[in-house]
Amino acid sequence: MKPLIVANWKMNPLTLKGAKLLFDAVKRGVKDIKNVEIVICPPFIYLSNIQYLKSNIKLGAQDCFWSERGAFTGEISPLMLKDLGVEYVTLGHSERRKLGETDEMINKKIKAALKVKLKPILCIGETEKERKAGKTFQILKTQLKKAFVNLSNSQIVNLSIAYEPVWAIGTGNPCEPKEAKKVYLFLRKILKNIPILYGGSANSENAASYIQEANFQGLLVGGASLKAKEFIKLVKNLES
Ligand code: PGA
Repeated sequence: MKPLIVANWKMNPLTLKGAKLLFDAVKRGVKDIKNVEIVICPPFIYLSNIQYLKSNIKLGAQDCFWSERGAFTGEISPLMLKDLGVEYVTLGHSERRKLGETDEMINKKIKAALKVKLKPILCIGETEKERKAGKTFQILKTQLKKAFVNLSNSQIVNLSIAYEPVWAIGTGNPCEPKEAKKVYLFLRKILKNIPILYGGSANSENAASYIQEANFQGLLVGGASLKAKEFIKLVKNLES
């Protein structure tokens, strides 16, 4: 299986011009890459302006709403994403959970995304406090259980999971591959056939170790995906 590298641009860049420049630079830099599946998740409003056709980059969204249609001010329907050519959607990112997104909401969003054949990337992870209290496995198990309520195995196989320890996100302090591997093995016992990604201060230097040493099937990359050179380097290091 090709490693799945997902760029999470979060609320960046601040201009459309900047978004186009970043995307085009990455597109040029990875045009010969064949053995890495590359997904870029820009802010919603840039999705329709990004020239992803004729490139080997797939489009992802950073969230979606749980209803396909209706009066929901400010929300984005999974159908709208489909219509723009979006294939993946990250759901349950810790930055959204922190703002009030609940496991129940995440569960509804997964179902809505699957219904229109978007591929959900479910983010799970423990906080620093939970890690220190030795609760990592328990937290992850609970997050999975709640996200999967009323989902059949045949639905779950269409997901990817991103293990993102909250304390490692955006801190420059990644979870070392050795520790991440223990979590990977724990998750692998619960999740049989679906890709498990690592996220949290991943960069071009450490990327390969998560795939080769810790056995993850890919990465969710935040900060390092906002610098074209760095992101291209990260992807190229994984092309074998
Ligand atoms: P980071 O973000 O790579 O900047 O730590 C990862 C993420 O939030 O998905």
